[in-house]
Amino acid sequence: MRFTGKCAVVTGAASGIGRATALLLAREGATVFAADLNLAGVEAVAREGENIVPVACDVCDVAQIKALMDHAAGTCGGIDIVFNNAGAVGDKAPIEEIEADGWDLTMNLLLRSVAMGIRYAVPHMLHRGGASIVNTASVAACGPGYSPTAYAVAKAGVLHLSKCAAADLARHGIRVNAIQPGFINTNIFTSAMEVPDDKVEIAKAVIAQVSSNAQPVARGGQPDDIANAVAFLCSEAGSFMTGTSLIVDGGITIGPRHSWDAEAPRMFESLQAFTGTEA
Ligand code: NAI
Repeated sequence: MRFTGKCAVVTGAASGIGRATALLLAREGATVFAADLNLAGVEAVAREGENIVPVACDVCDVAQIKALMDHAAGTCGGIDIVFNNAGAVGDKAPIEEIEADGWDLTMNLLLRSVAMGIRYAVPHMLHRGGASIVNTASVAACGPGYSPTAYAVAKAGVLHLSKCAAADLARHGIRVNAIQPGFINTNIFTSAMEVPDDKVEIAKAVIAQVSSNAQPVARGGQPDDIANAVAFLCSEAGSFMTGTSLIVDGGITIGPRHSWDAEAPRMFESLQAFTGTEA
């Protein structure tokens, strides 16, 4: 019961990482304001746990973010924990094709939403004796190859924003950290691929299979893996951490596949096989 008496706001709480985190924080005593574009989704999450308040909120709309924070604080008398997590893949176009509107939508969804989530939560987090903000970045912030370009750039921005906000807010005793999930088995992939309804279950089975072989840890990443790390960052045990990021990725960012997968082709072996030369 690490969060007894605490007030938490979680965005993107209808599904995946946000849902798991909302349920965990609530199980450990927090009153959780579970916000999402999908109101029916957060209403369902509220029925799964105790002290979960569903809120309709589009994080691309700054007025709705402010209303969410004001609502949580108005009910609880302040806010102790904010998990700025809502997101989607955004515009998938490569840089030579992306239009300004798609770029702006992706930045608003993944980066401006986090900045404004902090902006409108902080007035309610002052004098709470150790408030904590966690922002969802991604391993995509480490470099290209994990996601479309606009998404990767926005998530890199979330890392930098988290550091800068940690500096700005240190004097108020508010900690700010980021989390960098690896390949976590959630609805984000089927949503991004616009899989038709009748194929969603098959697509999810394929994603589950792929995700269990995608990294050194030989199982698929689950929303609870990230929820546990977020709860640690927000807890007393994480109280010496600010302005940093936790990579929770089963080791996917360790290095090239052949560094951890004995079956993966090595460049020199492939070259030798191709040219017929010996090592
Ligand atoms: P998900 O699709 O299961 O959940 C995302 C939730 O965000 C959904 O409930 C959706 O309705 C909500 N949402 C989308 N746009 C919104 C908006 N404008 N306003 C309010 N809510 C909105 O996906 P998942 O994986 O749980 O994603 C959560 C976060 O984790 C995202 O920021 C994503 O970029 C990030 N992430 C996910 C990874 C993965 O492998 N699943 C890896 C790295 C980062």
